[in-house]
Amino acid sequence: MDFGHLVNSENFNIRNFHPDLWQMFDNRWDWERAYLHENYSQSLNESNKIQMPCPDVYWFPVFKERYAKEMIEMVENYGRWSDGSHMDTRLESGYENVPTVDIHMKQVNYNDEWHEILRAYIQPLQLRVYDGYFNDPPRALMSFTVRYRPDEQPALRPHHDTSTYTINVGLNRPGIDYQGGGCRFLRYNCSVVDTRVGWTLMHPGRLTHLHEGLRVTAGTRYIIVTFVDP
Ligand SMILES: [Fe+2]
Repeated sequence: MDFGHLVNSENFNIRNFHPDLWQMFDNRWDWERAYLHENYSQSLNESNKIQMPCPDVYWFPVFKERYAKEMIEMVENYGRWSDGSHMDTRLESGYENVPTVDIHMKQVNYNDEWHEILRAYIQPLQLRVYDGYFNDPPRALMSFTVRYRPDEQPALRPHHDTSTYTINVGLNRPGIDYQGGGCRFLRYNCSVVDTRVGWTLMHPGRLTHLHEGLRVTAGTRYIIVTFVDP
């Protein structure tokens, strides 16, 4: 017999755009059913091989398409994109060395939720692919949604990230929502251009993985980026 389940509606904040996105603390079961990719847990199974599109660059299905769609709508509804310049008052230093047109998770009041995602869903994946590295909980000072488009910021020059490893979540479809785009790792002359919605790239942030954001020639490309353990 299935008697259903109880929903905790105490903290359902209708001021948030797509308030279900915030529900992982109060209604985890519903949140996972709505947003976690149906194949997420396959990556945790030791007998399954993890896909590695470039050397030491891995990717995993983490989020459903619904999550990607609602995150895009939520940040676009907020709408206060940075201007892509070096001066960034959101940062303690006030200076961003490799600026993008972006919105920080903190700005849309999604910092606690995003850190919970890093702890509960991303860290277990990291433990599978970078054996022996464990920092609990994963720390992140920089988590944001980036927007690439031809008439705004279309690409990003080669750089290292301020991270031990970087998370890069594809939110929309190459060849349909935008043309071009992707991430190229210069040392290996290897690019990931066949971005999959809700799939998450994980790559080392420094030293070996100098990388660039490839040019978007039409449409708008959205990704979520997090620098883990700066
Ligand atoms: Fe980067």
